[in-house]
Amino acid sequence: MSERQFIGVINQGTTGTQFVVFDRVEPVAEAFSAVDRMVDGYDRVEYDPEDLWTSTLDSIQRGLRRADIGPEELAGIGFATQRQTTVVWDRKTGQPVGNAIGWQDRHTAGGIATLDRGEIELIRNRTGLIPDPYFAGPKLKGLLDTDDALRARAHAGGLLFGTVDSWLVYNLTGRHVTDVTNAAQTMLFDIREQKWDDDLLALFDVPRAMLPEVRPSSDPVGFGRTDPDGVLATEIPVTGVLGDQQASLVGQAGFDPGDAKVTYGSGNFFLQNTGDEPVQAGDDLLTTIWFQEAGEDPLYGLEGPVFTTGSILERLGDVGFLDEPERITRLSRSVDSTDGVFVVPEFDGFGSQRWGPGSRISLVGLARHTRREHVARAAVESIAFGTRAAVEAAETATGVEHDRLRVDGGAIYDDEFARMQATLIGIPLVRSAVTQTAALGAAVAAGLALEVWESPTQVREQRTIEETFRPEGSETDAVDRRYRDWRDVVDTVRCL
Ligand code: G3P
Repeated sequence: MSERQFIGVINQGTTGTQFVVFDRVEPVAEAFSAVDRMVDGYDRVEYDPEDLWTSTLDSIQRGLRRADIGPEELAGIGFATQRQTTVVWDRKTGQPVGNAIGWQDRHTAGGIATLDRGEIELIRNRTGLIPDPYFAGPKLKGLLDTDDALRARAHAGGLLFGTVDSWLVYNLTGRHVTDVTNAAQTMLFDIREQKWDDDLLALFDVPRAMLPEVRPSSDPVGFGRTDPDGVLATEIPVTGVLGDQQASLVGQAGFDPGDAKVTYGSGNFFLQNTGDEPVQAGDDLLTTIWFQEAGEDPLYGLEGPVFTTGSILERLGDVGFLDEPERITRLSRSVDSTDGVFVVPEFDGFGSQRWGPGSRISLVGLARHTRREHVARAAVESIAFGTRAAVEAAETATGVEHDRLRVDGGAIYDDEFARMQATLIGIPLVRSAVTQTAALGAAVAAGLALEVWESPTQVREQRTIEETFRPEGSETDAVDRRYRDWRDVVDTVRCL
């Protein structure tokens, strides 16, 4: 076992980059550095790749100062990153060729709409994904389609592609790699064979030469080491890399098949461990890989992303419908019902339950006497009901009934909001005491590769206290009715 037990984790997400120093499972210091999102047009979300990297360096340096340790005291580094966001850079200079295309960007929806039945089946069977502009493959195709010279450079081997994990690891260690959980969200990766798929590369006209090497999520050597002459001036191995949603299932110690979690953020992400076999689930959910240790088989999961949840509150606030997101729970609790108002949250697309190109939020049922309290309640309900639909779809697909659900992520740490969500979803919610579950998951992945732990289950034994929020009140029938009505409204809006 390594003598040094500190692991530094870079958690790069939609709003910024957090660096967390862990001593085993305990976070001892953290620092956050915001990143600017560039939004241009109703379906475009981009980032400056340099900003993603500089925010990473900034948060590392400030996090280490807060932990009062030098970089040489880190036993290893882990990454938990936003998935699907797509970066292309020059092989020789390492300079990005343009902006990173964000996971919420939906401008390539037109290309998805032209896929024929056979192509959709191919994507579904090989990748486990439902064709959608959310994934990195269509974003990469969209980027290369903008410029013939760019595509020619890519085919000549002059350009490299990566998701955010890959871009940041490249800058830190010089290796062009990604892990299976991020690769599984590109729509170019065969999740059963665990390799880039030639048919899909041909379909999206993506040259193999620009793709990163794919490694297990927990890997002692594959991601490389920091350069002693580089920015951290010491050699530290990068030993854990995962997409942030998969990382939070690891951080929630969801190692038993059937274990599931929901992370609340800009979107809500339901993910259930289905063990060592991929389970295909109708047209609602994604089949994906959520973890792999070096030398072991990958672990599969079912994912139900609900794209527009926290972002509803933000957006309704931006246009003056509602107050600060923090006040919305209070507003929504001040009325007993939504008085017939429904929110159909499709701002960043809908995700599970209604895959499609939508980039708008629909407010349905506004009456003369509607107050913003009713709109607030309808927004909070739509967050819960979208999640409930994903849970139900997973129960149907796997036969596993959830008598509780692990939850984490920003908004759920508001107790009132957590109680409302439990009541509306209709299942007890078990909230992790560690707020940074995605970062913890990456620390666990990195720590397993460094033999800080012998097995994932040992990690569970070290987990700290959790808090459970149970559904409240006796109005289960009314909530169920309301949920069914909401689903009907979603279907109706779909037909408009
Ligand atoms: O798939 C997108 C997901 O990884 C969410 O990222 O940063 O919004 O939590 P973030």
